[in-house]
This record gives sequence, C-alpha cells and structure tokens, in this order.
Amino acid sequence: MQIIHTVAELRERLSRETSISLVPTMGNLHAGHLHLVEMAKQHGECVVVSIFVNPLQFGVNEDFASYPRTLAEDCAKLEAAGAAIVFAPSEKEMYPVAQSMQVTPPPIASELCGASRPGHFGGVATVVLKLFNLVQPRAAVFGKKDFQQLFIIRELVRQFNLPIEIIAGETKREDDSLAMSSRNGYLAEKLRAQASQLYHALQCAVQQMERGKDIASAEVEAAASLTEAGWQVDYVSVRSANTLLPPEPDENRLIVLGAARLGSTRLIDNIEFLRT
Ligand code: PAJ
Repeated sequence: MQIIHTVAELRERLSRETSISLVPTMGNLHAGHLHLVEMAKQHGECVVVSIFVNPLQFGVNEDFASYPRTLAEDCAKLEAAGAAIVFAPSEKEMYPVAQSMQVTPPPIASELCGASRPGHFGGVATVVLKLFNLVQPRAAVFGKKDFQQLFIIRELVRQFNLPIEIIAGETKREDDSLAMSSRNGYLAEKLRAQASQLYHALQCAVQQMERGKDIASAEVEAAASLTEAGWQVDYVSVRSANTLLPPEPDENRLIVLGAARLGSTRLIDNIEFLRT
C-alpha cells in the first residue's frame, strides 16, 4: 500500500490504473469505513481511500479543529483491509488557492442536516467533486449512515454527467446498535451508554407506523422521547427514500432520519422501511 500526499504523485501513480474505486473519508477509521473498502474491492482493482478533514464542510462553531486525526492507525487498518493507495493531502495541497468556485447543491441540501448545518453539503459536494476529478474512479463507495450526503452525491454525479458508479454501503453498528461514527469518541462513558437511544427512537417510530400510526405523530413522539431522555433534537423526519422529500401518499419506500445532540456531540442515524 502506498501513502500519497500530493496531487502530482497521485496523478502519476494512477496513470497506470484502468479500474479504480474510491472511498472518500475524513479518517479516524472504524469498521463502517472498512466495510466500504471491502465493497470497493469488488468494484475496482485499485482501491484508493482518501483521508482529508475538509474545512469547507464545517461550520464556524463546529468540530473542525478537534476532529480526530489518526493517520498512522488509519493506514495500518487500510493496509490490512487491502487498500492499494491512501491519498492524504494537506489543506494547502487540496486548496492551493481559496476555493471560490463551489458546487451549489440542490434545495434538499438546506433541509434535514442542512437546516442546522448551513453550507455543509455544498462543502461536501465540492470536495467530493475535486476527489473524483483527481482520482477518476470508475466507482465510489459511500455509507448509508449519511443518507442525505449519499443522496446529494448521487445528484452531483447525475447532474454533472460524471462517469462514476455510486455504491451504497449499509450502516455498521456497535453491539448496542449505535451507528459507528468517528464522533462517538467524543462521548464520555455516561453519554456513550445513552447514545443508542437515537437508533431505538427511530426503530420505535418505524414499529409504530407499521402498526398504523400516522407519520406526523410518529415523528413528534420519537423526538419527544429523545428530548425527555436529555437529547437536544435537531429533527426526526420521515421522508421518501427515493427523493428525500415528504412522502407522497402512494410512496412505499420510506426512511426515518434523525439528528440530535447528546451534550455537545451531534449524532445522526436513519432506518429505511417499507410502508405496506
Ligand atoms: P466520514 O464521516 O469519514 O465518512 C466516510 C464514509 O464512511 C461516508 O461515506 C460515510 O457515510 C461512511 N460511514 C460513516 N459511518 C459509517 C457506518 N457506521 N457504516 C457504514 N458507513 C459509514 O462522510 C464523510 O467522511 C465526508 O463528508 C466525505 C464524504 C469524506 C467528504 O469530506
């Protein structure tokens, strides 16, 4: 496995490759990320994993400075997982000039997580477009844990005619069902013990809807149960899994998405389900 820090070296190394798959990450890798690497191996002969904490996608009061940076450990995990190349550029390498041209994401980027993180998905789409242009993969793998991100990347590819297949990886969870996340490490022991409540509140909402409860009540009750347990809820929302818009009456592929803060740690999760 090769660790590459510069665009010039990356381009030179990849010029020999014809079947590349890409897994974009911000590092501090866990089993969820490594699952995406496994999937990438099935969609390209040369698996590139990028590790870059992208300043463009963090708001001013967010955790850019404190985001965990663990390159040596990450590289050891990726070597064992069978990645061919780690691309870990510096900020100067990724943004040698101020990135004054950026992707304007679709209106859905201002809803759900975008409502409490203005500019976030524009920053994500911009860095992912740059990574796609640098690596020119035939396929790229993203996790369903960040379902809205996955949706916006699919739109990016579709609307800009990028010749890249987007592969979706299922969410990997801890033993108590908490979705794996680099941000789980921020949780002190007491809060960590509480963190799977987010998943369980969403699961409970799905069960209630399967028993006939209307969507609006299920959303309100799930949010209330989290507030009651001490969370600050950003949203619990049931959407169409196809459009991420509020579901039309005849739509049956639905998803419940939630975002909430435990102390100062913001966690997100979602569950797809079928309306019968
Ligand atoms: P990061 O949070 O490091 O996530 C990298 C990829 O791993 C994303 O596609 C994310 O959805 C996926 N992932 C995270 N947790 C997961 C889990 N528990 N199970 C399965 N997949 C999981 O998402 C980003 O980085 C950035 O926004 C990025 C796309 C790299 C752009 O900067």
